[in-house]
Amino acid sequence: MAKLKVAVFISSRGSNMQSLVRASHDADFPAEIVSVLSNNPEAAGLKFAAENGIATHVIDHRDFETRADFEAEITRYLESAGIELICLAGFMRLLTADFVNHWRDRILNIHPSLLPAFKGLHVHERAIESGARFTGCTVHYVRPEMDDGPIIAQAVVPILQEDTADALAARILEQEHLIYPLALKLVAARQVKIHGNRVLIENPDEPRAAMIYPHTEEA
Ligand code: GRF
Repeated sequence: MAKLKVAVFISSRGSNMQSLVRASHDADFPAEIVSVLSNNPEAAGLKFAAENGIATHVIDHRDFETRADFEAEITRYLESAGIELICLAGFMRLLTADFVNHWRDRILNIHPSLLPAFKGLHVHERAIESGARFTGCTVHYVRPEMDDGPIIAQAVVPILQEDTADALAARILEQEHLIYPLALKLVAARQVKIHGNRVLIENPDEPRAAMIYPHTEEA
């Protein structure tokens, strides 16, 4: 089966993009990272992508009068490059419903909480202040509402008594780097089916492949 052609969207560091690129170096990985796109010409992740032989492309939102014009340019570029799936990975621009609907079921996002809890920003501070014992991270299909859409994979991370937002973010990031390649692999291998708001995994070998539980020694 031909590898799914993927563009990863970043705005700065790009560590999740790096985890996807590294996973895609495996000959059996069913997706190919064709392009890394950034709205920010200074995004640190662009250097890593270029060094790994991946086409990088900057579409700076400040060059466009409207969000619609910015997104029209993105779609024009993606379609000319034959992109089949978008992975948002720390892309800090909100996307309009028109764009999301145009690419419906072809955009994934990673969010550093166990959705539907803690959508939006300042997620780690809010998780700690909530008193919850566990948080985590989620890869989901994108819908027009922010941080909304059918959930593909999640990892659970305990919130420790002494946690700061930075310490918690670092432990969650380690899990992000596991679940994003996992989710992309399931999607690209066509082992996920969307049923309403649920994603069913059709992997006979690993029916629980999309769940990562905490290591007991962390708890
Ligand atoms: C990650 O925590 C991701 O979940 C969130 O933004 C952060 C991006 O980090 N959406 P990086 O650029 O992938 O290192």
